[in-house]
Amino acid sequence: MTSYSISSNLESHIHRLATQQPDDPLCAYLYDLGSLSTRIQEMVATLPPNVSLFYAAKANPMPEILTTLAPFVAGFEAASGGELMHLAQQNTHKPLIFGGPGKLNSELKTALEHNVDAIHVESITELKRLEALANALDLVAPVYLRMNIDIGDITLSKLAMGGKPTPFGLDEEDLNDALTLIKRTDRIRLNGFHFHLMSHQLETERHIALIQGYFNKVKQWQAVYQLDAMGINLGGGMGINYLEPGKDFDWPTFCQQLQHLIVHEGMESIPLRFECGRFISAPCGYYAMEVIDIKKNLGEYFAICRGGTHHFRTPAAQGHDHPFIVVPHQKATDSTHAEHAINNSLVNERISIVGQLCTPKDILARQQLVQELKIGDYVVFTLAGAYAWNISHQAFLMHPEPSFYFFNHPSP
Ligand SMILES: Cc1ncc(COP(=O)(O)O)c(C=O)c1O
Repeated sequence: MTSYSISSNLESHIHRLATQQPDDPLCAYLYDLGSLSTRIQEMVATLPPNVSLFYAAKANPMPEILTTLAPFVAGFEAASGGELMHLAQQNTHKPLIFGGPGKLNSELKTALEHNVDAIHVESITELKRLEALANALDLVAPVYLRMNIDIGDITLSKLAMGGKPTPFGLDEEDLNDALTLIKRTDRIRLNGFHFHLMSHQLETERHIALIQGYFNKVKQWQAVYQLDAMGINLGGGMGINYLEPGKDFDWPTFCQQLQHLIVHEGMESIPLRFECGRFISAPCGYYAMEVIDIKKNLGEYFAICRGGTHHFRTPAAQGHDHPFIVVPHQKATDSTHAEHAINNSLVNERISIVGQLCTPKDILARQQLVQELKIGDYVVFTLAGAYAWNISHQAFLMHPEPSFYFFNHPSP
C-alpha cells in the first residue's frame, strides 16, 4: 500500500480539462475517487478486529470524498459545528463524533440533537455546560474525555498536538474533578478516553510506543478511579512523507504491531478507534497549475503559474517544497495561451514554482530540478487531497477559484 502512485490516467484528465477551458491557463484540483476507495478499503481490512476507523473531515470535507469513504469507514469526526452540520447533511448514515476546542453551547446542542456517537470533552467548563444542556434537552450526552498527558521521552513529531503544554484536552490533574462530576449526574455517560497527541507521524514504532502510553494511562485511571472498561479513541496523525514521497507511515506493519500490542496488553475486548484524516485523503488529490511565464531573476529561474498558495496553502503551511510532476502541454488541444513561448523550454535546470500572488511567500516549491519545463506545461502537485484547498486563504486578491474535477469514480 503506497501513498505515491500517480493515477495512470491523470494526464488525459488534465488535457480533457484544459480542452474544456481553452481561453485561460488551467488551474484545477483533481481527485481520484477510485484510488481513495481502494485505499480506505485496504486500510480498514488491515485493522485489528477491535479497532475501527473514523475519517476526520477537517482533512477534506468535500461531499464526493465523504460519500466515497462512507461505505467503508466506521463514521466521521467533526471538529466544529459547521463540520457537524455539513456531515449530517451528507446523509452518510454513519456515526458522527464531535471534537475540537472552544465548542459553543449552540454547537454542543446541535451535537446532542443530532444524536452523535460521542462528544470529545476538552475541559471541566465544557463538561459542566454539556451537563446543563443535556438536562435542558432531557438527553444523555455520550462523552469521551480528551486527555493531554505527559508522554515522557517518546519523541514527538514536528506537529505535536499534546505531550507538552497545549490548549487541547484535559490535564490529568483535572481528571478527578471530571469523574466526580460525571459520577454525580445521569446526564453524562462516559464512554471512553480520547487522545490525539501528534500529527505527521512517519514511524510505526514511535506511534506504537505512544499508543502503549495511552493504554498504560487508561489502565492506571481505571484502577485508581475504579472505572469500568471503556473505549479509547487513539486519534489520527499518521503521516504523509512530502519530502520523500512513498517513504510513508507503513500502515500494514503498523496494524500488525498494533495487534501484537493489543494482545500483549489484554485489550482485545476494548473498543478502539482511530480518527485519521491526512493519511486517508492526501494521496487522492492533485493541484494542477499551468505555467504562465518563466523568468530568470538575479540568477534564479521562476515558473509563474496559474493559481497559488491561496488555493493550495499546504507547502506554505508546512514550510516545505511540495512534490510535483510536470505534464507537458499538448499543442493540438490545450489552451492557446502558450503559443508565443511554447518553444522556449528550460532543460535540466533548477526552478522555483510560484503562483500569482504579490507576496514572496506565494511559493510552492523552491529551486527544484526539472528535466524540461515550458510555458503552457502543467505543474501538478501530488499528495494534495488533504489540508489543501480547505486550509487556504482563498479570498486574498480575489482571484477566481480553481476548477474541481473528480475522476475514476468507484462503481456503486
Ligand atoms: C483531534 C484530532 N483528531 C484527528 C485529527 C486528524 O489528524 P490527521 O489528519 O493528522 O490524521 C486532528 C488533526 O488535527 C485532530 O486535531
